[in-house]
Amino acid sequence: MSGRFVVVGAGTMGLGIAYVAAGAGYAVELVEVDPARGAEALRRLGELWDRGVRRGKLTEEAATANRERVTLRAGLTEVAEGADVIVEAVPERLDLKRAVLREAESRRPALLGSNTSSIPIADLAAGLDRPAEFVGLHFFNPVWAMALLEVVVGPATAPQTTEAAVALAARLGKDPVVVRDMPGFATSRLGVTLGLEAIRMVADEVASPADIDKAMVLGYRHPIGPLELTDLVGLDVRLDIARTLQAAYGDRFAPPPLLVEMVAAGKLGKKSGQGFYTWKDGVKQ
Ligand SMILES: NC(=O)c1ccc[n+]([C@@H]2O[C@H](COP(=O)([O-])OP(=O)(O)OC[C@H]3O[C@@H](n4cnc5c(N)ncnc54)[C@H](O)[C@@H]3O)[C@@H](O)[C@H]2O)c1
Repeated sequence: MSGRFVVVGAGTMGLGIAYVAAGAGYAVELVEVDPARGAEALRRLGELWDRGVRRGKLTEEAATANRERVTLRAGLTEVAEGADVIVEAVPERLDLKRAVLREAESRRPALLGSNTSSIPIADLAAGLDRPAEFVGLHFFNPVWAMALLEVVVGPATAPQTTEAAVALAARLGKDPVVVRDMPGFATSRLGVTLGLEAIRMVADEVASPADIDKAMVLGYRHPIGPLELTDLVGLDVRLDIARTLQAAYGDRFAPPPLLVEMVAAGKLGKKSGQGFYTWKDGVKQ
């Protein structure tokens, strides 16, 4: 298997996407403007492959081959034209993403994708010359462990582009869902609904956070409860998504007062040490 796969942005998501693309045999170019973050991403990738070898999941040779398949680039100008795929995973800001996508498009990839988790594909496509070849490729964190790829089809996305995205998912070992470009796509819209209702239930003192989570884990076979998941995602992130969805769909997505208060008090979940649970060194207490 060969082919060229370009990832723009070597943060949490970019490095995860690079990991699975290298594992799928692509020559990966990881584009990162911040040299320190780029170096850190390469170090972390090496660490992940070493761990894979230690756990018997891949051979030394495969780990070395994967490592050698990833090249760091300081900018898209360093990327040759005609890659099979370019996916952007830069921060969730419309102007930044638009600028990156326009530049990426000028490198003439066969498939252009965005890993946005909330910006409409139509808005991102607005400045592109070939929006038909552009699609949402929404990966989940951590990319190597999460099976889902949400393929988000914009109004201008061509059917062949959607087919190419579905084929790409298969090559990367991901299981795709194809969704229409609507705020919150399929995952955030449904996931946030459950999270917000669980927070209202804490405020109503229906049960403790631990028991609300346990009810969904044991009663509905969810792998993790909605409040613990909110702690992992970040209460601030969920609040932002709720507000975006409220603007799109109305007050059924209005953030519960308890969520607003907790964010204002700096209780952001795992990353701040306190959310619906207390966290110490990244571990739930
Ligand atoms: N973190 C998650 O759980 C998650 C899950 C799904 C989707 N997403 C989406 O993925 C995207 C990236 O999120 P993240 O958490 O990896 O962000 P991050 O902040 O960890 O990483 C973004 C990286 O992009 C780099 N960058 C900024 N401008 C750049 C440019 N012009 N060229 C190249 N690199 C540039 C930054 O230096 C940084 O290293 C966002 O759109 C986010 O909404 C995130």
